[in-house]
Amino acid sequence: MTNWNVEDITSQKGKNIIITGANSGIGFEAANILAKKEAHIIMACRDLSRAKEAKQAIISEFASASIALYELDLSSLDSVNSFVKQIKQDYKSIDILLNNAGVMAPPYTQTKEGLELQFGVNHIGHFSLTLQLLDLFVTSTDPRIVNVASLAHKFGRIKVESFYYRPSNRYKKNIAYAQSKLANLLFTYALDRKLKSLNLNIKVLAAHPGISSTNLGRHSKVLSFRGIRKLVNAFNQSSYMGSLPSVRACTDLDAKSGEYYGPSRLFEVKGDPIVVSSTKRSHNQELQDLLWDESVRITNKKIDVSI
Ligand SMILES: NC(=O)c1ccc[n+]([C@@H]2O[C@H](COP(=O)([O-])OP(=O)(O)OC[C@H]3O[C@@H](n4cnc5c(N)ncnc54)[C@H](OP(=O)(O)O)[C@@H]3O)[C@@H](O)[C@H]2O)c1
Repeated sequence: MTNWNVEDITSQKGKNIIITGANSGIGFEAANILAKKEAHIIMACRDLSRAKEAKQAIISEFASASIALYELDLSSLDSVNSFVKQIKQDYKSIDILLNNAGVMAPPYTQTKEGLELQFGVNHIGHFSLTLQLLDLFVTSTDPRIVNVASLAHKFGRIKVESFYYRPSNRYKKNIAYAQSKLANLLFTYALDRKLKSLNLNIKVLAAHPGISSTNLGRHSKVLSFRGIRKLVNAFNQSSYMGSLPSVRACTDLDAKSGEYYGPSRLFEVKGDPIVVSSTKRSHNQELQDLLWDESVRITNKKIDVSI
């Protein structure tokens, strides 16, 4: 394993990088680092005023940052479609898609299509987005798709009946989060397999930030207790450190398709970004295919790339 650090990232000038959820936490830090490496950053955010503030924060540190703001609400497939339409009008080529946006353990909410929110935003929205953008990667010299997963995938199971709300379902929000994060990895490995079989030279990778200090825990009752928050903060890492596995997956010239990056220390809770492994379940091809088929059915999107 070669050493890697931010200083060694080569210039990203000329690259167009889409980052979902780029206004906060891990996505913001990744946007900040990659903008300073001269990439053109497309911040795909659900709230343009928050995106504007984030852009200003980056520009105040690096005046020549190249940043465009686009509205994207991953809880609505119509919003994903409009975003894709706009991007295809404005760009001929995309180099990197960092599927970072996420929501954790909210009260029960449905997406516009009636899906459980975490499954809808964390997986289905990104599934539709990725498949529709594939065309734009083929002219890039080092195209990459990076999905942000979580240590929580280890507790995930795929239960098709829980994708949509049923009055009989007892909603377990943490289990639903774990399912959505397992889905991120199943999607990564399935897409990698499918693109390789089509001889499409697009790297598909995953990353996780360990436990990082961001806004993700906003819905957590446990974290609302000051004592517990203090305890968690004593072990976790900064959002900057948490962004490094994603940034490494996006930029390391030695990174290979199908790799998963995460922190090196304390059972992957914190530390420098290295290649880590995910559960046996995430590599189960039958489960990958089940999720893929359901995702195609829900989104009505499939791989359709004209070279
Ligand atoms: N922090 C951790 O310890 C940790 C651990 C494991 C995995 N992760 C993963 O890291 C990723 C980033 O999370 P974070 O920790 O940086 O949390 P964060 O600070 O809350 O950022 C999440 C981002 O996702 C955006 N988002 C939420 N719902 C969306 C929607 N419907 N459409 C579009 N964007 C939406 C948020 O937008 P708003 O600002 O408008 O809400 C925000 O920009 C997530 O995938 C998360 O699962 C984080």
